[in-house]
Amino acid sequence: MRKKIVAGNWKMNKNFQQAEELLSEISEQVKTKATSDVTVVVCPSFVFVEMALDLCRDEKEQDIFAVGAQDVSVHDKGAYTGEVSAEMLKSMEAEYCIVGHSERRKYHNETNADVAQKVEMLLQNELNPIVCVGESLEERESGKLFDVIKTQINEGLFGLQPVDFLHVVIAYEPVWAIGTGKTATSEQAQEIHKYIRSLIEDKYGKEIARNISILYGGSCTPQTAPELFSQPDIDGGLIGGASLKAEDFLAIINSFEK
Ligand code: PGA
Repeated sequence: MRKKIVAGNWKMNKNFQQAEELLSEISEQVKTKATSDVTVVVCPSFVFVEMALDLCRDEKEQDIFAVGAQDVSVHDKGAYTGEVSAEMLKSMEAEYCIVGHSERRKYHNETNADVAQKVEMLLQNELNPIVCVGESLEERESGKLFDVIKTQINEGLFGLQPVDFLHVVIAYEPVWAIGTGKTATSEQAQEIHKYIRSLIEDKYGKEIARNISILYGGSCTPQTAPELFSQPDIDGGLIGGASLKAEDFLAIINSFEK
């Protein structure tokens, strides 16, 4: 059966001391209070990945906690100043990496072809990509919603062989809901999650479609998470703002129906 996952995307927030404090709080709470069948992933800035892994080694060993990055290079190595490779992340024992976040697509012109290449790099290094897809408000309102999602999935992911595709996590993040306080309704989210699963089924078959975790992201809070996570095709969340407070993040982790 597919995994339930709650991943925190810290974006470009926290300095070293603040990151350390938040991680200590999260690991303490996860250890003592979190529902144990949920995989918790924290994706801090690259520069804090090592600290996160050190601080949460016990929880990582118990398989309830993992550390991820927020991006990765399309290249494997070489003269690419400022870039971080999948092999570097692997050698630090990171396990996940967000790819194709709408902020990368918008501010760094990341294309579906880049997403496909990054996913390839991560899988070659045995990291799990968390691949973000989602439409803008304009695309939703002009009726292009399903086409946009289909193209992102097709071009970003469907070049993969089935054995590789099994390691992918998908995050549906409507761009209009990210950081805006406007969460998609559980019906709106479920409709797209179901659609994404149907695309996977058409391409890779029922069994694989059933085993892929699809997360929701976009202003997800302790208030909205329980209804979202109760939907049949929503397997957790990619959490931005609310992952920066240990209490809220834990409440979201514990939002699955018992
Ligand atoms: P948000 O961000 O929860 O702050 O809307 C989610 C994301 O961008 O991954």
